[in-house]
Amino acid sequence: MIIQKSATPRIATFDPQNFSFGDTFTDHMIICEYENGKWGDVKLIPYGPLPFTPAMMGLNYGQACFEGMKAYKDDEGEVFLFRPEKNFERINKSASRLAMPEVTEEMFLGGLKALVDMDREWIPQGVGTSLYIRPLIFATEEVLKARISNKYMFAIVATPAKSYYTEPVSVLISDFYSRAASGGVGSAKAAGNYAASFYPTQLANQQGYEQVIWTDDSTHEYFEESGTMNVFVRINDTIYTPPTSEKILDGVTRDSFIHLAKRRGIEVRIEPVSVKKVIEAQKDGSLKEVWGVGTAVVTSVFRALGYKGEKLELPTLPLEESFALSLQQDLVNIQNNKSEDPFGWRM
Ligand code: COI
Repeated sequence: MIIQKSATPRIATFDPQNFSFGDTFTDHMIICEYENGKWGDVKLIPYGPLPFTPAMMGLNYGQACFEGMKAYKDDEGEVFLFRPEKNFERINKSASRLAMPEVTEEMFLGGLKALVDMDREWIPQGVGTSLYIRPLIFATEEVLKARISNKYMFAIVATPAKSYYTEPVSVLISDFYSRAASGGVGSAKAAGNYAASFYPTQLANQQGYEQVIWTDDSTHEYFEESGTMNVFVRINDTIYTPPTSEKILDGVTRDSFIHLAKRRGIEVRIEPVSVKKVIEAQKDGSLKEVWGVGTAVVTSVFRALGYKGEKLELPTLPLEESFALSLQQDLVNIQNNKSEDPFGWRM
């Protein structure tokens, strides 16, 4: 690895008590370029702009994918990654689906560790904070032919992240827009999936909803994901989540919640979740909780579901009664080294 330390570090200006997620970047970043059929040297360099032109293929045709993961610092100052091998596997699945070259374990995990080690002072300490890490691959060839690019960049940047606590939100169950199509790229963390979600989300915002619950593209009768998250529904004391598929992202937080729920003895059913079933459960009072999970936010609890002009309210449960919040706490405690690590997830 080629290492060039920043001559003008900004860490002294970083206030861990006062920052917002995603707009402050650490002093360094990883880059690695792909050309002539192979990846070059991994470089750890000062964070900053790169020399590209508007003709870059990644910008024009969206050949780009990313990952989201976090590093945590415990009370003793020890730093942990959480299940990074899952993100390594998934970025390569995304890359393959978008006809991009896979990255090596050495590039991905080696790059992550080097960046986190170099910028460890940027990792806020304490439960509820972390360093959000964004590995990405994008096409860099300067050509407007609509074909597979011959040049790519793999990069990793990192931004401090704050408290997990977010207010419960209202979500609109989509009866028209979909996030993913059969045979499409829904299971890849493709940049374009996020671009395509912004407009329907904006429409939902205009109707007073913070997020969209994405339904399947052919019938709109089944839940798929919500916002940028996987979705869970609790009816009585059973948790339901749709199975992953070519349309549903194999979320690391989703998988962790399933393991933690089973460990608590909660029944988890991984099966298609119909809008009809959820609405009927809301009407008869058996719908206890609906929430989204993802790396960035961990858990977003829903307080109301909008569907075809109707707003269905959900109970707001305290921590002791809420599966969503209890499982979030189990996960956060593992991530922050506040509890044992029964599944060997800390690294
Ligand atoms: C994540 O949770 O890592 C996500 O993908 C959300 C991100 C788009 C902010």
